[in-house]
Amino acid sequence: MCGIVGYVGNSSRKAAGHSALDVVVEGLRRLEYRGYDSAGVAVVADGTISSRKKSGKLSNLIGELEANPIPESLTGIGHTRWATHGGPTDRNAHPHLSDGGRLAVIHNGIIENFAELKQELLGKGVTFESETDTEVAAALIGDIFRTQLNDGGSLTEAMRLACQRLEGAFTLLAVHADQPDVVVAARRNSPLVVGLGEGENFLGSDVSGFIDYTRRAVELGQDQIVTISADSVEITDFFGAPAEGKEYHVDWDPASAEKGGFNSFMEKEIHDQPDAVAQTLLGRSDLDGKLTLDELRIDPELLKQVNKIIVLACGTAAYAGLVAKYAIENWCRIPTEVELAHEFRYRDPIVDSNTLVVSISQSGETMDTLMAVRYAREQGAKTISICNTNGSTIPRESDAVLYTHAGPEIAVASTKAFLAQITAAYLLGLYLAQLRGNIFSGQIKDVLADLSKIPAKIQHILDNAGPLRELARSMKDEKSVLFLGRHVGYPVALEGALKLKEIAYIHAEGFAAGELKHGPIALIDDGQPVFVVVPSPRGRDSLHSKVVSNIQEVRARGARTLVIAEEGDESVKDYAEQVFYVPETPTLLMPLLTTVPLQIFAAELAGAKGYDVDQPRNLAKSVTVE
Ligand code: F6R
Repeated sequence: MCGIVGYVGNSSRKAAGHSALDVVVEGLRRLEYRGYDSAGVAVVADGTISSRKKSGKLSNLIGELEANPIPESLTGIGHTRWATHGGPTDRNAHPHLSDGGRLAVIHNGIIENFAELKQELLGKGVTFESETDTEVAAALIGDIFRTQLNDGGSLTEAMRLACQRLEGAFTLLAVHADQPDVVVAARRNSPLVVGLGEGENFLGSDVSGFIDYTRRAVELGQDQIVTISADSVEITDFFGAPAEGKEYHVDWDPASAEKGGFNSFMEKEIHDQPDAVAQTLLGRSDLDGKLTLDELRIDPELLKQVNKIIVLACGTAAYAGLVAKYAIENWCRIPTEVELAHEFRYRDPIVDSNTLVVSISQSGETMDTLMAVRYAREQGAKTISICNTNGSTIPRESDAVLYTHAGPEIAVASTKAFLAQITAAYLLGLYLAQLRGNIFSGQIKDVLADLSKIPAKIQHILDNAGPLRELARSMKDEKSVLFLGRHVGYPVALEGALKLKEIAYIHAEGFAAGELKHGPIALIDDGQPVFVVVPSPRGRDSLHSKVVSNIQEVRARGARTLVIAEEGDESVKDYAEQVFYVPETPTLLMPLLTTVPLQIFAAELAGAKGYDVDQPRNLAKSVTVE
């Protein structure tokens, strides 16, 4: 949800080819997945601000910069937008200028009291060109800089005073023509990290904004202001009290944030999945099959007392949570609820110190999830974050974190993060079971052995996806596709439908197969495509046979049945137009395999329709507004 970059370098960095504009545009290229309604830059050069902005994707801005170049500079900021206040037009694109064009501001988040501040500024004769809340923030900072601080003031001080008046969630970056050597930033409830270089420093919504230049990053806390110059990074709170950031090493490889020969990031990330699962398992158990989640810094005695688990997440991550529920309840016998984070805190949930809240978030910045975690902590719950992004807000604000090691996920539609989240949730479930003595260590060892075979099995699915891709291309004109599953196949059905909706814009719905006869079966008509995710026939027999009956029910009503089943399951053949087999694995682990064909199907079909698979309309990767 909006990508933000800031850069200040010294002249030797510029001589080495790091011009502010190039660094900022490269950062925006890497952050474009956060929003692509418009893009804009501002640099400070020759005592003035030069700014260009354009609605649409970053390529439009690059075209504009070629047509209308801006001067070389050492200091710059850049923004890619996911529109909230005001449509995706050139006028509403960031940066927004104030103080007679001498101040430029970019913003991620929502300023909740913008209307009231706007009235106040209008009363002072300030005029506005856009409908955005950002322009109000820019005007406020400009007004404070010019009228309250007079000429002796600093941009940092103006930012502090402005932040004391702003409500809501924001990351703000500002440059001023009077202070050409600094970028000043503020953050409240919105992401911002600092990158440390030699003779240059960086700001980014996340580390991909500067991953090409440095691996040294600094986490910022809540309500902090940071001023970067080429040689310094100064952090304070909103009232000027000095604060410390936490430095960490970025282990993402820039190459892992490239397409690597695939047509889209999504295709590449689907193919990254064997590695994402393997990396998430790596180093988390010993040779005796004992889990060693040392990073979970919660006292094991407290975890033993947990009598309820609530999994909080949104979208795909919530479907990973649903899979986790089946596994955790099975292994730990602890009642486990899964709740959409945005619903949780508005319903007066029952949470106390014996509740363990597990949040799942790829970005670690999803505002709905963050707010729910905060609420749970206030109620005394213990909080564990399953997260893919080091240094992000949700893990920082949780009692403990279990990182998924999927590497950067750039495509807006989540794929490898989903499988890594499920893997991490399994590890957490097994760890709790081990701690509480719910299952024998031999059983844990067996599950870990099964998990260790999953990466090769995913690879097998990827290597044999030809018929599935062919089917997807042949279905590009379908208007509606349904997905059915039972038990852990149910969240897989939901995920299959979500993928198709979000990247192929086809109406798709996932149902619990047993729910069908309670209404949705009325949707089945001649030729209606229905994917059915079938559990292992080697698992609980009744589960398998119930799903096979569901296939027959829809087929009897004319559905075109497309079945995902385990290799060797001959029983489905008679009722399926096509069967796509996945390798054998225990039922609880099956989502790590059965999801993959549905991801491939959606990506191939969206590609066949000519859509931008990585940047679907209306969406953004990291949803940092409520
Ligand atoms: C769907 C998708 C979203 C995210 C959701 C949560 O493909 O990517 O549904 O899963 O917005 O995002 P995170 O995991 O960053 O909290």
